[in-house]
Amino acid sequence: MSILVTGGAGYIGSHTVVELQNAGYDVVIVDNLVNASEKVLGRIEAITGTRPKFYQVDINDQEGLEKVFSENDFESCIHFAGLKAVGESVQKPLEYYMNNISGTLTLLDVMRHHNVKNIVFSSSATVYGNPAFIPITEECPKGQCTNPYGWTKSMLEQILSDLQKADPSWNVILLRYFNPIGAHKSGTMGENPNGIPNNLMPYITQVAVGKLKELGVFGNDYDTPDGTGVRDYIHVVDLALGHVKAIEKIKEDPGLKIYNLGTGKGYSVLDIVKNFEAATGVKIPYTIKPRRAGDIATCYADATLAKKELGWEAQYDLKDMCEDSWRWQKNNPQGY
Ligand code: NAD
Ligand code: UD1
Repeated sequence: MSILVTGGAGYIGSHTVVELQNAGYDVVIVDNLVNASEKVLGRIEAITGTRPKFYQVDINDQEGLEKVFSENDFESCIHFAGLKAVGESVQKPLEYYMNNISGTLTLLDVMRHHNVKNIVFSSSATVYGNPAFIPITEECPKGQCTNPYGWTKSMLEQILSDLQKADPSWNVILLRYFNPIGAHKSGTMGENPNGIPNNLMPYITQVAVGKLKELGVFGNDYDTPDGTGVRDYIHVVDLALGHVKAIEKIKEDPGLKIYNLGTGKGYSVLDIVKNFEAATGVKIPYTIKPRRAGDIATCYADATLAKKELGWEAQYDLKDMCEDSWRWQKNNPQGY
């Protein structure tokens, strides 16, 4: 039996494949490489000693998926595949709904056909919208998303919940990630954004490596200790380990489960800049810019449910996250 990892060549997926293989699982990756490089397979092999089986298949390609399922015996699927650029989703809503929603429906249909009914889904703290309370527990009501990307996560959570309710032989774990940053300790795997990064840490590392001139800080007039936005940054390896725990959980405790994967600590944009400078010795010039549309002031998790039920807790601190992001960027200035 093996684990199907859709989107397993991507940032979080590739780190999860490493941790699954380290834990003794056989892994099969399905990825269309729209936002990833096949080179990551060699990096995974160098770290774990095993090259994962790989299919370059789009999750919208029903025939392609049928072939993958008929050639393998899956116990569970971890479903990362999806488009994730918030700004692009506002420009291209149809592409986002088709890729993320239709693609997932096709995947679920093929899973059902092959009687593979365990799925761990990559959701996001974005489903809480402007959260009703902080720190955010899983009980916090879902909110209004500010962009089509966020809605795909919110809608897919609903679709998976409806499916599990209609047919309780499905087991579904929705993992709501907070802000993943960091990279593998080896410095050989990390985030590889296309074009100018939208997210804070890749922007900072590209300033540090000299690809970008300075960081723009989006607003310093929020109701936060220093006025800049506060987020719950989590090391991507901790996130990956959370998926290994979810794969263990899904086999022993059936039903629908929802877990926040965060550290429970909030850091401001300026905290991140200061900690990055302290961890790496590289200065990050910045200027204050207007607020970015759709941003909220504060977002951090209460992650006690994941600790209680999954036996999972984030181990890495902000210093590790900064050092590891920097090691990856420095060693791979052009990405893969
Ligand atoms: P990523 O872009 O690095 O990984 C996604 C992978 O899916 C890529 O390798 C891409 O090539 C692949 N893919 C996209 N569409 C596909 C399709 N139709 N068929 C097959 N493969 C396809 O992104 P990531 O940061 O690793 O995110 C993984 C998942 O976690 C995504 O679903 C994302 O929305 C979700 N998520 C990410 C974050 C974050 O900040 N990185 C936060 C919350 C949730
Ligand atoms: C982003 C996504 C969100 C996703 C989340 C999880 C957006 C609008 N939202 O959220 O859908 O679920 O990642 O990873 O992209 N910042 C700057 N300058 C920059 C970049 C960011 O000041 O150049 C600030 C932002 O205003 C924010 C913080 O840094 O306060 C973090 O931003 P980012 O990394 O983009 O993540 P989120 O906005 O939390």
